[in-house]
Amino acid sequence: MPTRYDLCLEPDLAAATFRGEVTIAVDIVESVEAIVLNATELTISSARLTMADGAVIDLDAVTDEQAERLTLLSPTPVGAGPASIEIPFEGILNDQLRGFYRSSFTDLDGTEQFIATTQFEATDARRAFPCWDEPDFKAVFSVSLVVDEGQFAVSNGAEVERTPSGSGKEIVRYADTIVMSTYLVAFVVGPFEATDPVIVAGVPLRVVAPIGKAHLTNFALEAGAFCLEWLSDYYGIAYPGDKVDFIAVPDFAFGAMENLGAIIYRETALLVDPLTTSLTEQRRVVDVIAHELAHMWFGDLVTMHWWEGIWLNEAFASFMEMKCTEAMHPEWDRWMAFAADPGSERSGAFTVDALSSSRPVEFAVTSPDEANEMFDPLTYGKGSAVLRMMEQYLGFEVFRKGVGDYLRTHSFGNTVTRDLWAALDAASGERVGEIMDTWILQAGFPQVDVRTAGSTIHLSQRRFLLIDDESDTRSWRIPMLLKVVTASGLHTHRIVMTQLDEAIDVGEEVEWLVANGGGHGFYRVHYAAPLLEQLIANFDKLESLERFTILDDTYAFVANGHMEAGDFLHLAAAYRSEHHQAIWQMLVGHLASLEHIVPDALLPAYRGTVADLLRQKADELGWEAVEGEPDLTRLLRGDLLRGMGIIAADETTVARARPRSRALVEDARSIDADVGQASLFITAYNGDADDFDAFFHAYEHADTPQLRQRFLQALCSVDDEELAKRVFGWTFDGTVRTQDAAWVTARLMSNRHSGPGVWRELRNRWVEVTEVYPNVTLRNVFEGLPALSKPDVAADVLAFFAETPVTSPKTLAQKLEQLQANVAVRAREETRLAHHLA
Ligand code: BES
Ligand code: ZN
Repeated sequence: MPTRYDLCLEPDLAAATFRGEVTIAVDIVESVEAIVLNATELTISSARLTMADGAVIDLDAVTDEQAERLTLLSPTPVGAGPASIEIPFEGILNDQLRGFYRSSFTDLDGTEQFIATTQFEATDARRAFPCWDEPDFKAVFSVSLVVDEGQFAVSNGAEVERTPSGSGKEIVRYADTIVMSTYLVAFVVGPFEATDPVIVAGVPLRVVAPIGKAHLTNFALEAGAFCLEWLSDYYGIAYPGDKVDFIAVPDFAFGAMENLGAIIYRETALLVDPLTTSLTEQRRVVDVIAHELAHMWFGDLVTMHWWEGIWLNEAFASFMEMKCTEAMHPEWDRWMAFAADPGSERSGAFTVDALSSSRPVEFAVTSPDEANEMFDPLTYGKGSAVLRMMEQYLGFEVFRKGVGDYLRTHSFGNTVTRDLWAALDAASGERVGEIMDTWILQAGFPQVDVRTAGSTIHLSQRRFLLIDDESDTRSWRIPMLLKVVTASGLHTHRIVMTQLDEAIDVGEEVEWLVANGGGHGFYRVHYAAPLLEQLIANFDKLESLERFTILDDTYAFVANGHMEAGDFLHLAAAYRSEHHQAIWQMLVGHLASLEHIVPDALLPAYRGTVADLLRQKADELGWEAVEGEPDLTRLLRGDLLRGMGIIAADETTVARARPRSRALVEDARSIDADVGQASLFITAYNGDADDFDAFFHAYEHADTPQLRQRFLQALCSVDDEELAKRVFGWTFDGTVRTQDAAWVTARLMSNRHSGPGVWRELRNRWVEVTEVYPNVTLRNVFEGLPALSKPDVAADVLAFFAETPVTSPKTLAQKLEQLQANVAVRAREETRLAHHLA
């Protein structure tokens, strides 16, 4: 049992190598002849064991690369008791964005600068030093780094001292950490500058950026200060570390990583120029900051026992992220976007969990690949959506008390899911665990069918599947807020539906009702026709999330064939005077998905229908941001312009976008960020080779992370096969950083015309793709597959992957099932839609 690691590392940035030595204090529980720990891609030739009495044993080191293990063999049995193991090792700073790796950037003078940095979750600490690389082997870490004199370096704990070690080097020693898991250890060395610390609830907080980017740190510093304070208060527990650094690194596989006290971000998720960054981009930064800080308690202080429980980390951090962003910016209505934005946490989870290839949120994990694959829309999105459902059902304060009790009880420890339920059961006096087991331990979610007869409400549940399966008879315990309107007014019934069919007599004739009251339930509702009409007639009495679910659920029923696209378009017309941005955004998103399956011959008619739906609201908001208008109005303006310019391909809109896109390309400060962003994408989707060249120039010269990313997105959107293939080529030659390669390719594949051509290139260069794209990001490529729904292309995709093994088979199976469902929608809707549009 390890209790403490004294770790010293010396990276050589120019040579891309490192040396290190670790001394691990252990308790030997029973007599052993071999000690087995994790290590991979490290060179280790020997080790030394020192017993409490001072006796020293030299150990032989044997590495097994397949098992990622190091075995230390003792010539004689080692007795039980405290001991310490000293292991010297060497490694390479890899370019795979995992373990201890090298990142680089070109500074203002045009010189290439190197950075050594880490990313350990899930199981890559073993690439930086030998360790027991499992979340419940918690220990104290004492880190020292040997760096060039005066060179910037950080780790989890505060810097304690710098001691010269000769030949221009110094040893930087950091304070001991709390007992924590190996995947949270971090160190970063390189040409960085840090802001002055701000003190939040006694904790110093800084933002660290590559040299030359310090002017982009203020936004994050403010958001960080707010979130740190707010979270400490919500949990009622002090921040568990001694400082917080937010560090922006130019190459990073994920959005950010919650290393205790040393949170690492990709640049777009931290560095902001408020003048040119759109609201969506700004919100992303606040979200990521809130999410990672939320982990300092949920994840770092209290950690899941094993990877099957990773949802305890990620679902909770996502849940807290929403709450914290909502607290900082109530005007953004964050929980609406949580449900509504295309690809958002909840809608993304609905999409995956409607597949027969879905999985339970909590799910057995035995290998590193399986651990990495757990970070998916079920863990994040379904997990946080069912927590939200439970919070709304139990009430804010009860839920918060349960959470605080859970964290206090298990501080510095590891937990399983039932520990959380025990705390919530105690706080609420209800059987929370019994309800939640049906959502966490079982795949899928229900569709609730609702009809009424006099004073009786009839409810029935069955699994909602994108491709129907009558034999699936599982059921859920569904916490529901039923809002029922009778002659005597509105009554809210708080119930848990447990049976497949239930009847509730409310004593008075039911006029209308909302079966997902508040709209927070993770289920779909199918209303009998007269009830749906009543709901539409009473729109003005519904909450925005309730109005949202009615339209969004209808789209889901189109996707699985129970309703027709025409029904959806018909219902959408009832939303013409809708005022909530998130509802429009969802609508525009669904219109875009439908556009993908509309046959070429119907496209003009379809575009006309879309324009007819959006025009009135789009005209109302115009093209100019108005001083002092609500943030959501700015967002809405962008959504509507994109809908008109991209889906409806409205000529006037495209013509008006063009000069604004040019303004953005020439000087981003000359135009409102949200209008500029929308104009850019409109021009890109309707763009030609000249536009492409202009975007490329802007991409190469962009001076903020968001602008650079935005021009890259624009380059991906020009729907021309030759140009799209050129962008695909850039993912191999460094023009696009490898951290972005996978999403770029996915985006290229989702284009209506050029997608199939990019798919064929991808298929032909697959081996190269697996070598160049960082392994942990590879599955992001699969996001582009569902759009390839032309039958012959889809068949080719399915045939290719039937013979191609991948490291994330679950994600792949899900994307392929979605693809098949899209092929089916296309086939179903071809004639139906022609009818409707006529
Ligand atoms: N712990 C994750 C980072 C991570 C993801 C590690 C996958 C290993 C595998 C981190 O807390 C996280 O969730 N980051 C998100 C951003 C967040 C706002 C949802 C990310 O990186 O996208
Ligand atoms: Zn997270």
